[in-house]
Amino acid sequence: MTAASSTSQQQRRPWIVGVSGASGTPFAASVLRGLLAAGESVDLVVSRASRLTILDETGISYRDAHWQEDLLSWLSRGADGKPDTFRPDIGDVRHWGAGDLAAGPSSGSYPAKGMLIVPASTACVAGVALGLSKDLLQRAASVTLKERRKLVVAVRETPLSGSTLRQMVALDEAGAVVLPASPGFYAGATHIQDLVDFVAGRVLDAAGVPHQLYRRWEGELGGASSRG
Ligand SMILES: Cc1cc2nc3c(=O)[nH]c(=O)nc-3n(C[C@H](O)[C@H](O)[C@H](O)COP(=O)(O)O)c2cc1C
Repeated sequence: MTAASSTSQQQRRPWIVGVSGASGTPFAASVLRGLLAAGESVDLVVSRASRLTILDETGISYRDAHWQEDLLSWLSRGADGKPDTFRPDIGDVRHWGAGDLAAGPSSGSYPAKGMLIVPASTACVAGVALGLSKDLLQRAASVTLKERRKLVVAVRETPLSGSTLRQMVALDEAGAVVLPASPGFYAGATHIQDLVDFVAGRVLDAAGVPHQLYRRWEGELGGASSRG
């Protein structure tokens, strides 16, 4: 490694984004667009099971070998299914295979700001709470916790079993932010994308990343119904 590449590696401190196999791939797309719009670097880990939810919810077959093409189609798509709704710049995204346990994010010495798991399946919640590290996504989450970095877990399941609730408490006690993917309606949503962006915005709030994904509460009751 040259001195120059070593310096550029030191400067790049990405957010690791883990997409697990829960329903809610539009939440992940919105978080990814929000991070990129804020000028953040992203390291992306897409679990094997999430290939099924991405296929089911978008029609896109997400392939490791063609991840740039597939990611661009995914992030360009609106939550209502319309293609080319967004024009994201994915130039600062690095993709890691979910089975690649030698990948950068599997080590605490790899520079990262933290990790956002969006959406988080209950299997993922259990795996991270127990420290299973069954794939790169779960290993990166365990590393994030042990390094005392920010971990946001956007759980998507309903209803929740007692064991998942206990695992969510364990994650909270370990320092993670457990954030149910549940939109609020006070921001005056009129489209499905607004509801998706509300959840994504709360994920970015928890990470401390600035964004304009939803309109914040300003202390005015009845404001939602008067917003267009
Ligand atoms: C279409 C589809 C939707 C799913 N939705 C959810 C969900 O909303 N929440 C959940 O916890 N699991 C859901 N699952 C099940 C997970 O994909 C499954 O538990 C998987 O093992 C998760 O693995 P991962 O955490 O490694 O991605 C869904 C599966 C499929 C095929």
